Amino acid sequence: MKIYRANIVYSRSRDDLAVFRDSYIAVENGVVEGIYEQLPEKFAALPVRNFGSGVMIPAFSDLHVHAPQYPQRGLGMDLLLEDWLNTYTFPQEAKYADPAYARAVYDAFLQDLIANGTFHACVFGTIHREPTGYLLEQMEEAGLRAFVGKVNMDIHSPDYLCETVEESLRETETFLEKYASNRFAKPILTPRFAPTCSRELLSGLGRLGAKYRTGVQTHLVESLWEAAEAKRLNPDCSCDTQIYEKSGLLGNGPVVAAHFIFPEEEDIRILKEYGGYAVQCPDATVNVIAGIMRTAALAESGVNLALGSDIAGGHLPGVYTQAARSVQLSKLKWFYEPEGNKPVSFANTFYMATKEGGALFGRTGSLEPGYAFDALVIRDFSDPFRKISPAETVERFCYTGGPADITARFIGGREPA
Ligand code: GUN
Ligand code: FE
Repeated sequence: MKIYRANIVYSRSRDDLAVFRDSYIAVENGVVEGIYEQLPEKFAALPVRNFGSGVMIPAFSDLHVHAPQYPQRGLGMDLLLEDWLNTYTFPQEAKYADPAYARAVYDAFLQDLIANGTFHACVFGTIHREPTGYLLEQMEEAGLRAFVGKVNMDIHSPDYLCETVEESLRETETFLEKYASNRFAKPILTPRFAPTCSRELLSGLGRLGAKYRTGVQTHLVESLWEAAEAKRLNPDCSCDTQIYEKSGLLGNGPVVAAHFIFPEEEDIRILKEYGGYAVQCPDATVNVIAGIMRTAALAESGVNLALGSDIAGGHLPGVYTQAARSVQLSKLKWFYEPEGNKPVSFANTFYMATKEGGALFGRTGSLEPGYAFDALVIRDFSDPFRKISPAETVERFCYTGGPADITARFIGGREPA
């Protein structure tokens, strides 16, 4: 049993931020036992680690990030999706045919992820199985809860990133088999998006999903170009999401839909039916996509929501920055399109970044009893001109903070080296 003292803040629900001032949190075998305003008698003999005016919060969940794009973050941000993919992203991803390059980047990427307090993530690798496997293995070893995917693409892609259906399925099956019994970092099917995946490939992946009970992550109704291209290539489908349903890819495990900016009613109905997540990636949206998710309306429709950094469509690794940006974008969307839209609150987006996104990975993303002790301590953001509350510190951290403001990190109760 470990006892820590701090101000403690977490989301109870979408609108309700729980705040415990100067309180104690008891952690047993890496799991939260309870939060107490007074230290109970039964713990009186235990040492207490005191974080003073620091604020303890749950660690963040990034439900959409491309590890191989880490070296290109902040580059080509004046392009739109199709040109950005062809000019920057595909040539960058080709480099992962070299395992030594992959290992060096993935080590740096994971270090930055941990520095930024992201301890749970849905990660895209590249088409290359072994380098993507290395990334998954490192996450497993670090105790980071994750879904990691070898990317599949077999049409309308540059030669150097284009697989045959047969090799794509064979490599994917090897990847699924190898990591099927992992504890923290697990494999997930990762067809890049409809414009680069044939129906033959998607159906083959659907069969693997059923056989290995494996979920799927992809980019869904991401841009108007992407949504139109998806339907043009799949004329028997009424919407982008139905392509995945008809391919047997939904219902085998988690369903993680990055962006989901331009859904039709049918996209929403299908995603909801399979308990899928719509992942907002606010920076990526304004950098390379040019669309804003209708976050409040989707929340009301009952779809699960989460946030993603989408490195390198997004330029910042910290999911907390995206909690801030999501609030900003919701106001812009509402201002320009008041019909059916409204702003979201910081409590709403902090919930997406922690408890709502974290639920994909099990009992994590909160500090309630029974949750994994995946937690951060943020320094007190009060300054000499204004004392601010613990909840305000969390908000100010998300808007203005960085890794240096995180003074302690716990992954399953353990502090990373
Ligand atoms: N759509 C297909 N591939 C990608 C990618 O790598 N990043 C983003 N943001 N969108 C995509
Ligand atoms: Fe992406």
